[in-house]
Amino acid sequence: MLSRSDFLLRSDVAFLNHGSFGACPRIVLEEQRRWVERMEQQPVLFFREADELMQSARAALASYLGARARDLIYVTNSTYGVNVAAHAFGDVLAPGDEILTTDHEYGACDRAWSQYCVSKGIRYVRAEIPIPVPSAEEIVEIIWSKVTPRTKVLFLSHITSPTAVRFPVEELCARAKEVGIRSVIDGSHAPGHIPLDLSTLQADVYTANCHKWMCTPKGSAFLWVTEELQYMMSPLAVSWGRESSWQQGGTFIAEQEYLGTRDISPFLTVPFVLQLMQEQPWSAVQSKARLLAQTAMELLTRISGVSSMCASGQDSLLQMTAVTLPDATDVDHMKEWLYTERAVEVVVHRWLGYPILRSSAHIHTSQTDVGMLGEAVSDYLIK
Ligand SMILES: Cc1ncc(COP(=O)(O)O)c(C=O)c1O
Repeated sequence: MLSRSDFLLRSDVAFLNHGSFGACPRIVLEEQRRWVERMEQQPVLFFREADELMQSARAALASYLGARARDLIYVTNSTYGVNVAAHAFGDVLAPGDEILTTDHEYGACDRAWSQYCVSKGIRYVRAEIPIPVPSAEEIVEIIWSKVTPRTKVLFLSHITSPTAVRFPVEELCARAKEVGIRSVIDGSHAPGHIPLDLSTLQADVYTANCHKWMCTPKGSAFLWVTEELQYMMSPLAVSWGRESSWQQGGTFIAEQEYLGTRDISPFLTVPFVLQLMQEQPWSAVQSKARLLAQTAMELLTRISGVSSMCASGQDSLLQMTAVTLPDATDVDHMKEWLYTERAVEVVVHRWLGYPILRSSAHIHTSQTDVGMLGEAVSDYLIK
């Protein structure tokens, strides 16, 4: 199994913030480098072959996700994927129509809906999910209680960024489908982290990063759109599209994926990572990391004033967990102190008025890292 020494991560830092930008093993970066070199050895030939190369990279990812290759495009990140969806719905919804979301969404994606929809009079309705976060069943009811006859789109994170909560999107997408509400899922933290099968999920649009939990090079993500809605999606930059040679996947792919000259090495490296994930095997990586995340949770919640984010323990199934800290915590000071004084990299921020610490565990995380976190937080709060 890969371990810390297979990463470029600094050995003097307890890196417990995989959730923000991921981390990529050396052998994956070497594979990416091989693609870059192939491109630079004969750029014209490389871009002539790129359509076929991308087709096989797409097929590999689609098969991992339970999707059809023709319904999926590579994008640089899920921020871009959400932007494409928000732009598309902004064009077809009417003033007064509603997009239903929650108050645990990622800020940049919230902004995309504001930019393309709120500015046109479309309402962006946030269901309030309390902290501590209730059970999955209660989350479904809280969100569903905000549905009105004007609700046209449900926009949800699969796993939330500020609070590290897995939302019951399976149940919510199914309910939405039954009543004709479109669902757009921001799955940034899902691939490589929790089981994901797009053939059964019943979402209409799903975008996610490979560069977080799959440990692919940065700039590798995807946007999947159900066939029926693909006609609505326009790329945010118009290029040669269907007039390009990028023709093997059909119009949706040609329009969305051929965006002029750019580095496609992060996408082409994904099949290598999928193979690597099989060899580890990834299920063992995930179990080990979940155990470390749980240990972190146990160490932290032993400290007075520190509590788990989830009331009913659903966070025990994730590699990323969050705790609430004592009310008076100065989160900026604490984050800075943990890093400069104890070399511990975690998220410490305030969300919905609560001071929150989010830590992540992955293949490079050790018991020592987690121990350093527990000791540092205890020293900081009990000083
Ligand atoms: C839930 C969620 N959505 C979207 C993003 C944006 O990811 P990216 O910057 O790769 O687009 C993040 C990043 O942390 C996230 O946590």
